[in-house]
Amino acid sequence: MPNPSSAYPPVNPRFPFLWHGGDYNPDQWRHVPGTLDADFRLFPLAGINSVSVAIFAWAALEPEEGHYTFDWLDDVMARCARQQMAVVLATPSGAKPNWMARKYPEILRQLPTGPGFEPSQMIQHCRHNHCPTSPLYRQKCIAMNSRLAARYGRHPALALWHVSNEYGGECQCPRCLQAFRVWLRARYQTLDRLNEAWWTGFWAHTFTDWDEIIGLDGSIESMMLDWKRFTTDQAVDFFRAESAPLRAITPDIPVTINMMGFYDGLDYRRFAPHVDVISWDCYPPYHDRPDATEATASRIGMTHDLNRSMKEGHPFLMMESSPGPVNWMPVNRLLRPGVHRLKSLQAIAHGSDSVQYFQLRKGRGGCEKFHGAVIDHAGHEQTRMFREVAQVGADLKALQPVVGAATRARVGLIYDWQVRWSLSAWDGANPAVRRYLDTCHQHYRPFWKAGVAVDILNGDTPLDAYDLVIAPTLFLLRKGFAERAEAFVAAGGTLVATYLTGVVNEDGNAHLGGFPGPLRRLFGLWAEETDYLYDEETNRLVFAQENPLELSASATVRHVCERIHAEGAEIVATYEQAFYAGEPALTVNTFGKGRAWYLAADGGLPLLNDFYARLIARSGLPRALETDQPEGVAAQRREKDGRSFTFVANYAGETRATDLGPTPRTDLLTGRTLSGTVPLPPYGVLVLG
Ligand code: GLA
Ligand code: ZN
Repeated sequence: MPNPSSAYPPVNPRFPFLWHGGDYNPDQWRHVPGTLDADFRLFPLAGINSVSVAIFAWAALEPEEGHYTFDWLDDVMARCARQQMAVVLATPSGAKPNWMARKYPEILRQLPTGPGFEPSQMIQHCRHNHCPTSPLYRQKCIAMNSRLAARYGRHPALALWHVSNEYGGECQCPRCLQAFRVWLRARYQTLDRLNEAWWTGFWAHTFTDWDEIIGLDGSIESMMLDWKRFTTDQAVDFFRAESAPLRAITPDIPVTINMMGFYDGLDYRRFAPHVDVISWDCYPPYHDRPDATEATASRIGMTHDLNRSMKEGHPFLMMESSPGPVNWMPVNRLLRPGVHRLKSLQAIAHGSDSVQYFQLRKGRGGCEKFHGAVIDHAGHEQTRMFREVAQVGADLKALQPVVGAATRARVGLIYDWQVRWSLSAWDGANPAVRRYLDTCHQHYRPFWKAGVAVDILNGDTPLDAYDLVIAPTLFLLRKGFAERAEAFVAAGGTLVATYLTGVVNEDGNAHLGGFPGPLRRLFGLWAEETDYLYDEETNRLVFAQENPLELSASATVRHVCERIHAEGAEIVATYEQAFYAGEPALTVNTFGKGRAWYLAADGGLPLLNDFYARLIARSGLPRALETDQPEGVAAQRREKDGRSFTFVANYAGETRATDLGPTPRTDLLTGRTLSGTVPLPPYGVLVLG
């Protein structure tokens, strides 16, 4: 939602700069004298002003039960304070110490060893391996976090709490299944209501006692949907329990968790009200497929936008990124010179107030020892990546005025984790339909290319702050969505939906009386049945001679073709082929002062580009640059106190001529004044301020 004021305060007013730093594991180097001296000499050379410490340090903080060793952390904190650096202090729950697992096996996460209800397997090693329900683990976390807060709460270097690490996964131990039953009782109150919501008359699934719910069953799709909801709620509950001492002892220190973008396993929006700033770990595969430049760049742009949107437009932190290749992609190519800077500035362009890394010093051993890092095994500053990091450090200093700047989006795109889960629970769903995130991305991409800011909304976000709302494959409708959507369009908004909208309710059960269920009146149509095409098959759209957007270029559609009947909607295009040739494929319904568009087939990028370009022009949506950009180039804008910052980036590996428009503006990164058409080198970035 657009910010009514002109800028946001910094994450922590004591550190009012763009943060540049990242994960730092000095606990792993305690036996190597001189390491910290070397690191703290190198940090300022790269413009590093922040470190994230203790993320996986439990064994170093409490080597045996009740025996705490904080001396090494005291030293790191003191060094940071001396160098005016911001410390992002983690709670260490992301990996439990082995002594604890051995003494208290209940803390271990358990997963079934096979389908059905076979005995569970405990996860001993690796990391992210705790049970979120275990009272004992919670107690241990609370004890540890209370000590950290008491010891460092007033430390001048403490800037932010980083709670745990990348919450994720799930646990199916007996305690978690019991908690699931409690959660279900709270949600449904009675077994009758649960049986109705889960449609358990099917295959004799009727539950006559809550204790009959002893494990997961993929044939009860609504149960699978509820399990995902429960898993999220349990993770939020765990997070709130372990952060309670931080809230109590250090009420002035903000709290975050590092999220993983569109990670399927948790609905991150449920965490948003409980954290002070959103942060996420960003690893774009730019070096993977040079031919997928715009696809990769826009996908990452959309993920940044999700993070910016989760707290009503508040700037977020990019908590991790790699200053070199990672260790987990199919091919861990070197970042081409300039790509590191490009992806770092891309984060700032979309609303990040930081560029943070995993990690500052490369480890000697373990499975991440060849993962990119600021300080390489060589141990000095004479490496290509160190120099590129130092360049980013210098850029971030030049971009200081951007701190807290807002992004004003008048377009909202709905991405709802619950829709994604209901599509993946749907047995027999066509693969093209299951690719919900890809579908959302296809609808996002034309806006990214045009430089039109987009907020990523949830299925229950109020819509009235927007002019245009896009809802790709809104298969599951939240309660009240239809009323909100009708009010939004009636007041003059434009809504775009696609095939498979409004198919199921929040329980996950099909709407009766015709699809798109309660949205039938708004779209003025009835969706009768859906055809799925083989990958190599296509159909085409034929546009009506006169249509509101003057669409005329013929368009190919693939994968999904829904058969719809207009019930008041104007038919903008019909199918060209198949037994439903001549039937509507794209419609628009005037509803109050606004319009509701319905695209019944999977149009693909060419159609979406054309369609949205016209909608953007008709709606007069503001663009970061009014000029069209060449292949590989895109622009974003942030604003603060009447000043705007336009980021123009060339994601292509070749020079591109970019038209900046007639008004001369200063590039904050070089001080040059630019206007008209200028060459943008490979991976080059301008920030026009
Ligand atoms: C994640 C984790 C880090 C590290 C990186 C490697 O983001 O949070 O601890 O494992 O991946 O890319
Ligand atoms: Zn468990």
